[in-house]
Amino acid sequence: MSARLAAAIAGLALFAASPKAMAQGQEFDVIERGHVLATVGDCVACHTAPGGKPFSGGLKIETPFGIIASPNITPDMDTGIGRWTDAEFVRAMHEGIGRNGEHLYPAFPYPYYTKVTTSDVLAIRAWLATIPAVRNEVVSNQLPFPFSIRADLIGWNGLNFKEGRFVPSAAKPAVWNRGAYLVEGLGHCGACHTEKNVIGGDKSDRALLGGTLGGWFAPNIGGDMRRGVGGWSNEQIVAYLKTGHNDVAAASGPMADVVTQSTSRMAPADLQAIAVYLRDQPPPQDEPTAKPDDVVMKTGGRVYATQCAACHTQPGSGVNGLFPTLAHAPNIQSINPTTLIRAVLQGAKSVATDPAPTGAAMPAFDWKLSDEQVAAALTYVRWSWGNSAPSVTSSQVADIRKALRKEGD
Ligand code: HEC
Ligand code: HEC
Ligand code: HEC
Repeated sequence: MSARLAAAIAGLALFAASPKAMAQGQEFDVIERGHVLATVGDCVACHTAPGGKPFSGGLKIETPFGIIASPNITPDMDTGIGRWTDAEFVRAMHEGIGRNGEHLYPAFPYPYYTKVTTSDVLAIRAWLATIPAVRNEVVSNQLPFPFSIRADLIGWNGLNFKEGRFVPSAAKPAVWNRGAYLVEGLGHCGACHTEKNVIGGDKSDRALLGGTLGGWFAPNIGGDMRRGVGGWSNEQIVAYLKTGHNDVAAASGPMADVVTQSTSRMAPADLQAIAVYLRDQPPPQDEPTAKPDDVVMKTGGRVYATQCAACHTQPGSGVNGLFPTLAHAPNIQSINPTTLIRAVLQGAKSVATDPAPTGAAMPAFDWKLSDEQVAAALTYVRWSWGNSAPSVTSSQVADIRKALRKEGD
C-alpha cells in the first residue's frame, strides 16, 4: 500500500471516529504555521512598545513625515483587532486598508506583505487570534498636518505600491522562489535594505542595494562580489541570519533586532533559500572608486596599528567568532560608511542569540580620536588588503558625531 493511500485511510478512520477532532487537528496545524509566519514577518518588532505587552502596540515609529504609533493587534475586542473579520485582515495585509476603509501608512510594510499568499495571511490571523488579548488604546496617527490626511496615501500608493501576490519565476528552481517569496514578502528585507525616494517609497531599480535609516546603513545584500554578499557562501549567510554573526561580519543595531526576533527563529531550509536568492541578485552599475590621498593613508595606517590591530589584527583578518574580519568584508566596503563611523565612535556589541550566547564588544573611540583620525583609520581599512571603497571624510564623521550626541540627549 502506498504511503499516501495509508494516510488517506488513516484520515478517513479519524474522520469516522470524530469529525471534530480532525477539524481541530487541522486548525492546530494552521495556527502553528501562522506562528512561524508571524515570526518571519517580525510583527512583534513594530507592534510592541518598550516595556509593553507583545503585540499590544504603541511603539512610536519615525517616518519622513512624522511619528506613527503602531496599533494594538492582540484579539482585544475594543482596542485590538478582536472584532475584525478575516476578510478585513486580509485586506489590511494585501491592500494597506484599515477596518473602516481608511488608508494605512506604509510604515506598516503592506507594500511587501501584499506578496504573501492569502492562505499564509489567514494562518497568521488564526495564530494572532490565540494570543492573549491586551487592552491598550493606541492613537496611531500622530502626524502633523497635511501628512495626517490619510486620503493623501491614495497618491502615494499610485506612485509606490503595486498590489498583488508573489509570482514565482518558472526559470528558477523552487528553492530560489522560496527565498524570493520570503525576502520580497513577509521578510520585508527591502524596507531597510532598499534606498528610498523622497517620499519614502522604494527605488525599485535599487532593490536590496543598500539603504540608510536613522544613522544606520543597511548594506547591499545582493550578489555583488565586493559590496554585497555574492562572495559569501550559503553557509556564511545562514550563520549570520541564524546567530547574528559569521567569520566576516556581525549584526548590530536594527539588524541585531531582526536576527533576535525573526531570522534566528526561521527554519534552516528557509534561511538556505534566502541565501540562494540573495546571492543571485545582480550587482549594480557603480562608478569606479578613486584612490585615497597618501597622507591620509599614512595617518590611517598609524591609527590602525596602535588602536585597532590588537583586535582586528594587522592583516585585517580578525579572530574567528570574536573580532570581525575587515579584509574583503562587504559592509566595510559599502558606498555609504554611516554604520562604520557609528561603530568606531560609539562602539558596538554583537548580538547574543541562543545558538551563540556570548557577544564580543567593540570599544567606543569618540573620546579618544578626532574626526580626522577616525576618517583616516576607516579610509585605511576601506583601501587595504584588497578592499576598495570611497574615502571617509572628516565632515562625514563630524555629522555622525553630532547625530549621536543628539540621540544620547
Ligand atoms: C515595520 C513596522 C511594522 C511591522 C514589521 C508590522 N507592522 Fe503592522 N502596522 C504598523 C503600523 C505603523 C501600523 C499603523 C498604520 C496606520 O495607522 O496607518 C500597522 C497596522 C497594522 C494593522 C492595522 C491595524 C489597525 O488597527 O488598523 C494590522 C492588522 C497589522 N499592522 C498587522 C501586522 C502583522 C500581522 C504584521 C506581521 C506579519 C505586522 N503588522 C508587521 C507597523 C508594522
Ligand atoms: C529594520 C531594518 C532591517 C531589516 C528589516 C533587515 N535588515 Fe539586514 N541589516 C540592517 C542593518 C542596519 C544592517 C547592518 C548591520 C551591521 O553592519 O551591524 C544589516 C545587515 C544585514 C546583513 C549583513 C550584510 C553585511 O555585508 O554585513 C545581511 C546578510 C542582512 N542584513 C540580511 C537581511 C535579510 C535577509 C533581511 C530580511 C529577512 C533583513 N536583513 C532585514 C537592517 C535591516
Ligand atoms: C577591543 C577589541 C577591538 C578594538 C581595539 C577595535 N575593535 Fe572594531 N570591533 C570589535 C568587535 C568585537 C566588533 C564587532 C562588534 C559588533 O558585533 O558589532 C568590532 C566591529 C568593528 C567594525 C564594524 C564591523 C561590522 O561588521 O559591522 C568596524 C568598522 C571596526 N570594528 C573598526 C575598528 C577600528 C577602525 C578600530 C580602531 C580605531 C577598532 N575597530 C578597534 C573589536 C575591537
